[in-house]
Amino acid sequence: MAPKKSLVFFCRECGFESAKWMGQCPACHEWNTFTEEPSEKKKSVSKHRSQTFTGGSDRAVSMSDISTDTDERMASGFAEFDRVLGGGIVRGSMVLVGGDPGIGKSTLLLQVCRNLADTGVKVLYVSGEESLRQIKLRADRIGEFKPDMKLLCETDLDLIEEAVNNEKPAVLVIDSIQTMYAKESDSACGSISQVREATSRLMQIAKTGGVSVFVIGHVTREGTVAGPRTLEHMVDTVLYFEGDRYASYRILRGVKNRFGSTNEIGVFEMGGDGLREVANPSEYMLNGKPAGASGSVVACSVEGTRPILVEIQALVTHTAFGIPRRTAAGCDVNRVNLLMAVLEKRVGIPLADCDAYINVAGGMKVNEPAMDLAVVIAVISSKKDKVVPDDVICFGEVGLSGEVRAVSQPKARVSEAKKLGFKTVIMPLVCVDAVKDIDGIELVGVANVRQAQDYIDRMRDDRR
Ligand code: TYD
Ligand code: MG
Repeated sequence: MAPKKSLVFFCRECGFESAKWMGQCPACHEWNTFTEEPSEKKKSVSKHRSQTFTGGSDRAVSMSDISTDTDERMASGFAEFDRVLGGGIVRGSMVLVGGDPGIGKSTLLLQVCRNLADTGVKVLYVSGEESLRQIKLRADRIGEFKPDMKLLCETDLDLIEEAVNNEKPAVLVIDSIQTMYAKESDSACGSISQVREATSRLMQIAKTGGVSVFVIGHVTREGTVAGPRTLEHMVDTVLYFEGDRYASYRILRGVKNRFGSTNEIGVFEMGGDGLREVANPSEYMLNGKPAGASGSVVACSVEGTRPILVEIQALVTHTAFGIPRRTAAGCDVNRVNLLMAVLEKRVGIPLADCDAYINVAGGMKVNEPAMDLAVVIAVISSKKDKVVPDDVICFGEVGLSGEVRAVSQPKARVSEAKKLGFKTVIMPLVCVDAVKDIDGIELVGVANVRQAQDYIDRMRDDRR
């Protein structure tokens, strides 16, 4: 009788290993995340390997003796991409780029490779998903490639390592980690142990050879990069490429970064000839804003260090059914419900028999509390069918008593509004002091929602 193959179980979320299946992971407490995989012989981690992995030494060194001169950065040719990375590509770093299928991960990295090759950087692009012909077809849409850019269609990490040793690239792109195969693990490609093994092999290439490695990863239904969370722990930087598939803009978001701040975003637009940087996202987001329409207000959101103006739209109608319907696209519907309850109780606007639809135009997602004031003003504007003047912008968090509370980075928000030609900013009263040296734009500090509303009503009457 053939010996029975032994199995182990892994948690998809955190990579916890167990000899038996469990309903709840004892490590991360997620339910129903265990998958079975063939058991592997435990390999002893040699001293040599652990040493070369981080490039460290076996004795303690003092902080001042460590040189960081070698951590130079390369420009990717995309200012947006460099900013998200914290100022360029760090030599010997490993970056995971995640995102939904078809969002443009392969296109983005192919374009970065092209830019790098143009400046004489040697690049190796390894694809385990597409044939050379397919990649060439995509590349033809993007533009010309220099000979410094090499392609390889391979999934076996031994052969990839060999190619890296031959070609000696400065940048290596792996498309995608789920298709890679490392012989150390006998599980199927894309399984948790394979992904983990492949990542650690690539990590070794990055750290020992000083190669900057970009790894593309697929995203699961839950919105995390497929494979265990350990994958995100292992790499230096995790970027997510996201966006509405039906809108042409894409956002590159830093989720983890050992070499810079997270929360930075880069904005791109997908066109017929690849991705294009959007240097001024506010202009882009406000494109097509209707003039003189009720229920439309411009707000200023801050993503990382970057202010972006977005249009908040509200449509409030009488409900035809007993229970009013509230939906929100681009912001949290529970927050909208809360703000409408505040309006009803604190400002005395009857909304209990109204349907409300809130939309952040352009497909952008904003979950910042600073959007509250704009949502509230848009709802009032739509309910009363009164237009908010087009040159007004507002931001501020609204509390349960109807008070307008302070938000972060008021200066960046006001400057952005001024840059785009807005005349009046309605903002939290407590933040006015911080921005009063910005001139050329009227600053209106409000302490509560009622004051904001009164100001807009007065403004409308004055202009009549
Ligand atoms: P792709 O980079 O293959 O996505 P991913 O690697 O994330 O799965 O490309 C995705 C989409 O982008 C594809 O549906 C076609 C579209 N696209 C354009 O609109 N313009 C272009 O120039 C290119 C290359 C692709
Ligand atoms: Mg792809």
